[in-house]
Amino acid sequence: MTTSEPTTPTESTAPALAPQKLLAGQKALVTGANSGIGRGVAIALGQAGADVVVNYVDGDDSASAVVDEIRRSGANAFAYKADVSSEDQVAGMFKSMIQQFGTIDILVANAGLQRDSAFHQMTMAQWNMVLGVNLTGQFLCAREAIREFLRRGIVPSVSCAAGKIICMSSVHQQIPWGGHANYATSKGGIKLMMESLAQEVAPKRIRVNAIGPGAIRTPINTSAWNTPEAYNQLMTLIPYGRIGEPEDIARAAVWLASDHSDYVVGTTLFVDGGMTLYPGFATGG
Ligand code: BGC
Repeated sequence: MTTSEPTTPTESTAPALAPQKLLAGQKALVTGANSGIGRGVAIALGQAGADVVVNYVDGDDSASAVVDEIRRSGANAFAYKADVSSEDQVAGMFKSMIQQFGTIDILVANAGLQRDSAFHQMTMAQWNMVLGVNLTGQFLCAREAIREFLRRGIVPSVSCAAGKIICMSSVHQQIPWGGHANYATSKGGIKLMMESLAQEVAPKRIRVNAIGPGAIRTPINTSAWNTPEAYNQLMTLIPYGRIGEPEDIARAAVWLASDHSDYVVGTTLFVDGGMTLYPGFATGG
C-alpha cells in the first residue's frame, strides 16, 4: 500500500513580482479618458509602463493632450473617439486597439455622466442617456475585453492574470441619491454586473473589480466644490476632511490593474475619504 502525499500546497502560491514599472508591457484601454478621473487614470497607467488607448467622445484637443502626456512618460498612446453606448463604435474601437497594440490586458471602464433631475420630472432621454453610457457602455466594453482575454489567455511574461477589468463605479452603488435616481441606478447595476462577471470569469484567471470614488475634484461635480460654501457643505459628508483628487483614484487603478492585487477578485475598492461610513452617525443615532 502506498501512502499519498498531502495535496494542500504548503508554500506560497502568490506570484513573484518583478521590480520594474508595475505595468510594463501591458496594453490598456481607458474610456472617458480625456477629462476627470479617466484622464488621471490613463496618465498613471502610462507612467506605470502601460501603452494606453485614450477613449473619448467629445474634445479632440483634450484627448490629444492626454496622449502627449502619456508619450512623454515613455509609453505609447493613441486617442480613439467612440461613444461607449454604441455597440458598433465599441466593436470598432477594440478592433483598432488590437490592430495597433496587438491585444488588451487592462480595461478601465470609466466613461460616465450625470443628467440630474427630480424623479417626477425625469425624461426618458435623461434616463436612457445615463443608463446607456454608464451601464450599457461598461457592458459593451467589458464584453469585448473578455472575448480578447479568453482568446489570448495568460501570457506569464506580461501578467499572471489573463486580463483585468476595472469598472468605475461610485459611492452611489451603495448610497442612495435623491435627485439622481438614473445615476444611482446605473452604479447599482455596475456593482452586480461587476460581481456576476467576476464570479463567471475568475476560473479563467480574469480579474474583474470596481473602484467606488467619492467626491473627486472633476468637471462632473464642480458645483459641489467650487465655492467655499459648497466645499464646506461637502465636508460634512467626508470624515477625512478633504475632497479627492483624480490621482487618488489613479493610484488605486494602477494597483488593481497590477499583479500586486492578484488575489483581489470581485471587490469594490471605495476611495472616498470615508463617505460610505455614514458620517451623520459620528455624533447622531
Ligand atoms: C458623482 C459626484 C458626487 C460624488 C459623491 C460621484 O459618483 O459623480 O457628482 O460628487 O459621487 O456624491
